[in-house]
Amino acid sequence: MKAKISTTAKYLPKKTLTNSDLEKMVDTSNEWILSRTGIEKRHIVSEGEATSDMCKEVAIALMEKSGKKPEEIDLILIATSTPDVPVVSTAALVQDKIGATNAWGYDIVAACTGFVYAMETGAKLVESGKYKNVIVIGADTMSSIIDYTDRNTCVIFGDGAGGVLLEPSDDDCGILDAILLADGSGHKYLTVPAGGSLRPASKETIDKKMHYVYQDGKTVFKFAVKNMADVSKEILDKNNILGKDLKLFIPHQANKRIIDAAAKRCGLSEDQVLVNIGKYGNTTAGTIPIALDDAVEAKMLKKNDLVLFAAFGGGFTWGSMLIKWS
Ligand code: UT7
Repeated sequence: MKAKISTTAKYLPKKTLTNSDLEKMVDTSNEWILSRTGIEKRHIVSEGEATSDMCKEVAIALMEKSGKKPEEIDLILIATSTPDVPVVSTAALVQDKIGATNAWGYDIVAACTGFVYAMETGAKLVESGKYKNVIVIGADTMSSIIDYTDRNTCVIFGDGAGGVLLEPSDDDCGILDAILLADGSGHKYLTVPAGGSLRPASKETIDKKMHYVYQDGKTVFKFAVKNMADVSKEILDKNNILGKDLKLFIPHQANKRIIDAAAKRCGLSEDQVLVNIGKYGNTTAGTIPIALDDAVEAKMLKKNDLVLFAAFGGGFTWGSMLIKWS
């Protein structure tokens, strides 16, 4: 038995931050941001709005669209690197906020690859036959860990959440395969250096701005281009699928140039690739489920279409997932 995506939803905070807003905050330009990343604007949470609030909106939309009641949800998996608080999972907070009295759940931390990791976990639990209604959400409040005086990172990231309801499939449609990888030796190139057990919060860590995202952009770019392209091609080859057979490639939205490299490697044409980075920026674990919901809303997918996810992120972590749409 396979697991299928029965429903999709997303939530973007109301407030937006445009490239011209950023021009007033740091030494940057709309031209630089657009040409180097493809980003035009990103959404940012309001004061007091946290990751679990965005996830709650996604979970409620999933239940409304699917007609499921909160007590029918068995499991909640949240991919995030920006939980509301260090102790208490976002999944537990969402369980409470939506009144899913029969659900358990937990968070999965794999940076930008988090949603694909969580999807594989959720799919395997559905395939076990024990869990029938599984909510999988990718969500990040990147604005909570971004230094808005650092032009290297503040122009890239945005806040947002997207998710799916996984259910047992009654035919051969559903999640076909996934390849997931990690190389923790890359941890130093993309990280938040303090605030964990290695360097607990102190006056020194705050003074040195160690609670913000540090990224060696050039190195991450190099690894992302190679690994996201390789893992996309590998899953197609493994399943004897040619690029032309794919209906839609939904890659992690980190940089338009990384997406183009992966699409080229798989021999895809422009109309086979979903690119929405211009509207939302890099929402980390949120990018793939947000893009999937955009595709569903635009009626781009029909039954039996082949869909490919691919992601690369901090860790390093990366992976791909192949789906036959139901
Ligand atoms: O999602 C998780 C994984 N993350 C990624 O995949 C991100 C991967 N990295 C990237 O996407 C790109 O490396 C960036 C978008 C972060 C940076 O683009 P780049 O083409 O690699 O630029 P760069 O870091 O090589 O910088 C080129 C120049 C530098 O100036 P000099 O040294 O040539 O004078 C930077 O100081 O651009 C400068 N620069 C900026 N200029 C205007 C860096 N950031 C900015 C900025 N505005 N925001």
